[in-house]
Amino acid sequence: MEDSLDLLRSSLKTARCVAFTGAGISAESGVPTFRGAGGLWRNYSPERLATAEAFSSDPRLVWEWYDWLRGLIHAAQPNPGHLALTEMQRRAPERFTLVTQNMDGLHERAGSQDVVKLHGDIWLLRCTQCGREDRNERVPMDPLPPLCRCGGILRPGIVWFGEMLPTEQWERALEAAQKADVFMAIGTSVTVYPAAGLVAVARESGARIAVLNPDPTPADEFAEWVLRGPAGQILPRLL
Ligand code: OAD
Repeated sequence: MEDSLDLLRSSLKTARCVAFTGAGISAESGVPTFRGAGGLWRNYSPERLATAEAFSSDPRLVWEWYDWLRGLIHAAQPNPGHLALTEMQRRAPERFTLVTQNMDGLHERAGSQDVVKLHGDIWLLRCTQCGREDRNERVPMDPLPPLCRCGGILRPGIVWFGEMLPTEQWERALEAAQKADVFMAIGTSVTVYPAAGLVAVARESGARIAVLNPDPTPADEFAEWVLRGPAGQILPRLL
């Protein structure tokens, strides 16, 4: 692993780089991943709750889950992994793009700029009736589900299974993946499409792939570097 770390660190000195993050980068901040231990909430999996169908049949239940997550995220702090990515961007902003599947806002709290957010933002609420969007950081929420001033039910500003990714964010992510020399998949299971497809886009466009994860992922077979371990320990060593 030492050799891989050294080689990747030296490539990052001149490469155009995409850091593509998933829930694993926030695990060391105490935010549970979706598919790991602690991913179930009251025995529901995220796939069952994070859908428009689940929300329309039981908005209170879905909101209780997000309210619990918002509480955990609110109490969490960015960890050395988030901070290392902020520092990479600070050193070479023109060569670095951060694309995240996370909705927790911890990259921004760590100081990262222009984060490409593919799956929305848990602190954004959108009215299901009038479409109004507002930032709301209240923890806990009361009442549940929260209501808009028009009387409509508010939903979290998150992309649910079966919904389209925000077009502008997706186009920025695609362009960055196509132009990357090095594409790092960090703390993601690389299983949720279309976001996970960015790894193949980058590879087919000539990028070298690095995977930072304590566990195997489907991207390992394409990867030039597979760095096994917690992102909060590996990323600072790439600086
Ligand atoms: P997952 O929960 O699927 O995967 C988390 C990954 O993080 C796993 O591969 C773990 O092995 C890894 N991991 C755990 N601890 C780690 C650590 N300390 N350092 C590095 N890696 C660690 O999360 P995502 O891949 O982000 O979508 O899931 C993708 C999407 O599925 C999410 O954005 C969310 C979810 O449903 C929406 O909300 C739309």
